[in-house]
Amino acid sequence: MLNIREYDFKNKKVIIRVDFNVPIKNGTITDTSRIDKSLETINFVLSKGGKIILLSHLGRVKTEEDKQKNTLLPVFEYLKTIYKDKIAFIKLSNDEDILLLENTRWEDLEGKKESSNNVDLSKYWAAMGDVFINDAFGTSHRAHASNVGIAKILPSMFGFLVEKEIEFLSKLNKIESRPYTIVMGGAKVSDKIKLIENLLKKADYILIGGAMANTFLKAKGYDIRESMYEIDYIDYAATLIKEYNKKIILPVDVICASNIDSEEIIQCDIENIDEGLSIFDIGYKTVNLFEEYINRSSIIFMNGPMGVFEKEQFSKGTKDILKSISNSQSISVIGGGDSAAAAKKFGLESKFSHVSTGGGASLEMLEGSDMPGIDVILNEKQ
Ligand code: 3PG
Repeated sequence: MLNIREYDFKNKKVIIRVDFNVPIKNGTITDTSRIDKSLETINFVLSKGGKIILLSHLGRVKTEEDKQKNTLLPVFEYLKTIYKDKIAFIKLSNDEDILLLENTRWEDLEGKKESSNNVDLSKYWAAMGDVFINDAFGTSHRAHASNVGIAKILPSMFGFLVEKEIEFLSKLNKIESRPYTIVMGGAKVSDKIKLIENLLKKADYILIGGAMANTFLKAKGYDIRESMYEIDYIDYAATLIKEYNKKIILPVDVICASNIDSEEIIQCDIENIDEGLSIFDIGYKTVNLFEEYINRSSIIFMNGPMGVFEKEQFSKGTKDILKSISNSQSISVIGGGDSAAAAKKFGLESKFSHVSTGGGASLEMLEGSDMPGIDVILNEKQ
């Protein structure tokens, strides 16, 4: 494996895989943290005389329409405010210092070439550069053409962002203090729910909020009315609840509304949700319950918001839980784009031991899974 500090980048074409999978609303990025955290690597390579080719995914591309919804153009516009005319988007000329290529997952439309780590696609991208830097921690748990594929072809190294994530999270994995509490939420339920079993072996408590809690509540037999849940995981959730009864802590009350845009919210005890309502946040009794666990924990890892925090009326659960984690004496880690965005929105970002750019990635690293985007570089013989 190469070291970014020692490599001679002068006149080299440097492919940097970044995770610019940022939240975008009406064409505007609502949280630029993931981009900002990779600027250190980009600026370092520039200062050493390298020419940069940036690769990133954005969202998931399954249909032709998804391509336009998931264009990196807003990211380019943001980078342009920083790098002015030093950066170009797609236009492959030799004049600019930085080229940003369009969303790597546009290549998924035909034959899932990016996500299945297609060798020809990796070779195509690798041919554009002399050396490869992985600065995309958020996607390091995936074996895709733009991270693992290119790293197999070009001499490779980590960027500063990935270096810091590995350093902190591997240190965290070795700390033995207890209790160890994981707070889980967010919308990417099917990705994360599979990890719970291994996390339950590691953690003392898992406090579950967000859309993921609905699947567990349904599995417990509660009538969650119109709330979204993962039907395929009901039996799995029921087995986990049975086996880890004392470790899995679920909401006892929730904030409901007739739809996500409704300003009229209703606090419901979990056994008493009215017909026609859906759950969009945890309730205040749940906040108090979760706080009891947070206050006596030595390590707290939060991955995913407790509700639809982007909407003021459903933001209280996430804000209160983030606040109590930040006020606790514990080692505190926040993981994932949405949780990091929430921490920033509520002005709490600087109050945690570590804010990880990886959602699924930080969870997988924590539970001890293979990290193909990291392992391929660590195992490289240089
Ligand atoms: C994330 O947001 O966690 C990363 O960008 C990875 O995205 P993915 O889950 O779509 O691979």
